Amino acid sequence: MARRWASFLLSCLAICSLVTLAVTVKHENFKTCAQSGFCKRNRAYADTALSTTNWASPYSLDPTSVKFDRGILTGTVIKQTINTDETVRLPLTIAFYESGVARVTIDEEKRQKGEIELRHNSKAKKQRYNEAEQWAIVGGTKLSTGAATGNSAEQSTTRVSYGPASAFEAIIRHSPFGVEFKRGGETHIKLNDRGLLNVEHWRPKIDKPEPEKKEGDEEKKEGEEAVVAESEKDAAEDEGTWWDESFGGNTDSKPRGPEAVALDVSFPGYQHVYGVAEHAGPLSLKETRGGEGKYDDPYRLYNSDVFEYEMDSPMTLYGAIPFMQAHKKDSTVGVLWLNAAETWIDITKSTTSANPLSLGIGGTVSTNTHWISESGLLDIFVFLGPSPQDVIGSYSELTGYTQLPQQFAIAYHQCRWNYVTDEDVKDVDRKFSRHKIPYDVIWLDIEYTEGKKYFTWDPMTFGDPLGMQKQLDESERKLVAIIDPHIKNEGNYPIVDEMKSKDLAVHNKDDSIYEGWCWPGSSYWIDCFSPRGREWWKGLFRYDKFKGSAKNTFIWNDMNEPSVFNGPETTMPKDNLHHDGWEHRDVHNLNGMTLVNATYDALLARDKDEDKHHVRPFVLTRSFFSGSQRLGAMWTGDNQAAWPHLEASIPMILSMGISGFPFSGADVGGFFGNPSKELLTRWYQAGAFYPFFRGHAHIDTRRREPYLAGEPYTQIITQALRLRYSLLPAWYTAFHEASTTGAPIVRPNYYVHPSDEKGFAIDDQLYLGSYGLLAKPVTKEGEVAQDIYLADKEKYFDYFDYWMYEGPATVSVAAPLETIPLLMQGGHIIPRRERPRRSSGLMRYDPFTLVVVLGNTGDAEGTLYLDDGASFDYQDGAYIHRRFVYSAAMGTLSSEDLAVATGSKTSAYLKEMETVKVEKVIVVNAPESWKGKAEVSISEELAGKSSGTRSVPLDWHAREEGRAAWAVIRNPAVRIGSGWKISFA
Ligand SMILES: *[C@@H]1O[C@H](CO)[C@@H](O)[C@H](O)[C@H]1NC(C)=O
Repeated sequence: MARRWASFLLSCLAICSLVTLAVTVKHENFKTCAQSGFCKRNRAYADTALSTTNWASPYSLDPTSVKFDRGILTGTVIKQTINTDETVRLPLTIAFYESGVARVTIDEEKRQKGEIELRHNSKAKKQRYNEAEQWAIVGGTKLSTGAATGNSAEQSTTRVSYGPASAFEAIIRHSPFGVEFKRGGETHIKLNDRGLLNVEHWRPKIDKPEPEKKEGDEEKKEGEEAVVAESEKDAAEDEGTWWDESFGGNTDSKPRGPEAVALDVSFPGYQHVYGVAEHAGPLSLKETRGGEGKYDDPYRLYNSDVFEYEMDSPMTLYGAIPFMQAHKKDSTVGVLWLNAAETWIDITKSTTSANPLSLGIGGTVSTNTHWISESGLLDIFVFLGPSPQDVIGSYSELTGYTQLPQQFAIAYHQCRWNYVTDEDVKDVDRKFSRHKIPYDVIWLDIEYTEGKKYFTWDPMTFGDPLGMQKQLDESERKLVAIIDPHIKNEGNYPIVDEMKSKDLAVHNKDDSIYEGWCWPGSSYWIDCFSPRGREWWKGLFRYDKFKGSAKNTFIWNDMNEPSVFNGPETTMPKDNLHHDGWEHRDVHNLNGMTLVNATYDALLARDKDEDKHHVRPFVLTRSFFSGSQRLGAMWTGDNQAAWPHLEASIPMILSMGISGFPFSGADVGGFFGNPSKELLTRWYQAGAFYPFFRGHAHIDTRRREPYLAGEPYTQIITQALRLRYSLLPAWYTAFHEASTTGAPIVRPNYYVHPSDEKGFAIDDQLYLGSYGLLAKPVTKEGEVAQDIYLADKEKYFDYFDYWMYEGPATVSVAAPLETIPLLMQGGHIIPRRERPRRSSGLMRYDPFTLVVVLGNTGDAEGTLYLDDGASFDYQDGAYIHRRFVYSAAMGTLSSEDLAVATGSKTSAYLKEMETVKVEKVIVVNAPESWKGKAEVSISEELAGKSSGTRSVPLDWHAREEGRAAWAVIRNPAVRIGSGWKISFA
């Protein structure tokens, strides 16, 4: 024991010191709320409001202004300023959409009309930014025809009923202004219930003399008046952050003065909130106002290149999805705060108890949130559920569905900064083949370019990019090359010359070209907010422009927050100017998405119409916003080769899944540092369950391609990769589901079991698609077993040996290094392809295995979506979509057509796939009555006619110890694309 402890302590010391050396995010480079003027002001506002008895929010809706017409309510909110007698007019709209989503928008009349003065001769636009919707919103905004204002008994509110079966109601309180949202008579969301609404109106800067002590101050009574005096004092102090604001040696000139928007959103009765990606923390968000186990700062959304980011933190990361869901037993609701400026979100929870003496025990927990953005409109969408999928589905209808990627994009990607020559790439490619390790894509980081000039190849190291890509293509493998938005400022570089002469770069506050530092040194940034900028960018990817790129070249957009090495918080100054005079401040969180938008369209445009066969673009992005899911994949940025980063990757990816952007992954192995072989192996096992599965490594790390790990590691990693490849049919079907419904690809417990309160905070295990496949990758060193939480009364079976578990329970599953804890929930049918290949492209005509998992009812079902995995032909009907159903009552397994409609390319595709058959059916937990049964009968429908019946043998395997009985049908040889029935009766 003592020796074990000693060695444990030693290894702990070694690890801990490694970790402390490695984890060194530079906090001083990034603002806290207290260092961000508008956040500090609004937190102080909240403190005043919440500590003042009978606080009255100074906003009221002028009842005479209220109009309701065809699904939209309009009116004017009046703000009575505290310190002056001014009244500020704030135009309000509340739109009710056919989908059941409501949208509240508040603007400011003076700015809307441009009746304000800018300081410093700024050329910036005067309006509040109102174009975020042009980037984020693509559908779901058909106005409700059924929404109606009812007769309000009181004069003090306006009521609107809307939504499915008019079960939703918005109660708009006039004074103070607030909105309460009900579903089925119960309140689920309240806006401005705590009175934190704050729209910082425009005001001229008045240079005041030093405040003098006024006569009569002493005469003021204590109590109410003192409170006013206190808040006046606060406001006066705060004026220091209204105008110019400095941080880290950079001064923001703030030509429009203070202009924040803030609002409290309460979720009464909801204990859990999720979302507001991207953060490295638990799926169920923490409270942010201090105290044991809570954060001290709000969750921040300000897309940043956070070098060596830390775990369990509300600090901002690379992307922002301002969408939050609240969940309680059998009810999910949500809000989207559509604002692209720097945003902070405070979260607190409160307990109300029915019985005041019970001290909160058994009371109801509610979650209160406070949203604060630096500029722009106040624009909030309200979702009333009631299921997690209802909320995610409505959000996805608004912001778009995940792109259906090419199949290679969901296979394994091999990356490193950097493969140093084209020969190096070819060598790695050959070694993967020689070791029979599957991979689909090899990646090039920045070093392939000539001097960090994008759209060029270093002639010394990548003299023959086309030859390299030709070799990759022989195994249907692809290349992804990095192209970043910073363009090197150097003579004789046609790209920069063109960008300058056409004036397509982002401008500085003086409205001339903005220059900053990034990988190439002095650089300019393409402004993809500009239609002309995007059009130009599109042209750069043509094969004759980006010479050396080929049809199997795809693109990685990194550093698109944007990362600027010498900028404030490693990004652009907020007073920089984009297309049409919008300040960078207004659009910052959208910036990354605009680049990916242009790159996606560029990849589409590089093929001539006649070769549109293989052109679904693939773009990986680091920075993102609501809507980026339409354009490609994201990864969680520069993580570390340390166990806590592996552990954190699971909740981060689950969070992306429920945020409408499920095509996500973390760098396998960890970007910074060298992983131990155990860590690398466990990371591959976890990565096999990331929707985006890529190994990546920093330039200073040792090589770590899987074949270098040595035995037994290489074998175990290869098994994890093969598991991913064999389940590609299930992954691809899950992507298809995401691309049509917005459903997450890997799913947290609460999404799958929305009634199971005990599982609402579980974020270390995940379900793959709708297949009941439940994985809990090992994320801790030395772990050899995993406790898996089974939420429902159902049987679960080990994926590999059919060991049986019964839920609800927490079960211990053995997890020695070579094992990924993976269970199959009863009731599902899982499609697989089991022949090991070098790449997914080579599996195109491989046969299928169907695994039928029988649970408590004895019935099972599962779906399969299949197309060429590359082109847009599926839009013309070139796809197969089947449902497999096992019916216990009838003793049959059948294949039914789910295809919605045939198109011009349907029959050609079905013909092409005629030879693709089911080679095996495995039935797990097969009924005892099959014992002694020698064969099953099969009937198949070919060309609309029944083929008659034939028999094939059935192998029965009895129950053994804890393992379920199982049966196998070898080579039923039914077509994957036709209707058939296998009868076990
Ligand atoms: C890119 O943005 C433009 C302008 O909003 C839009 O018209 C276009 O469809 C977008 N492209 C993609 C691929 O979403």
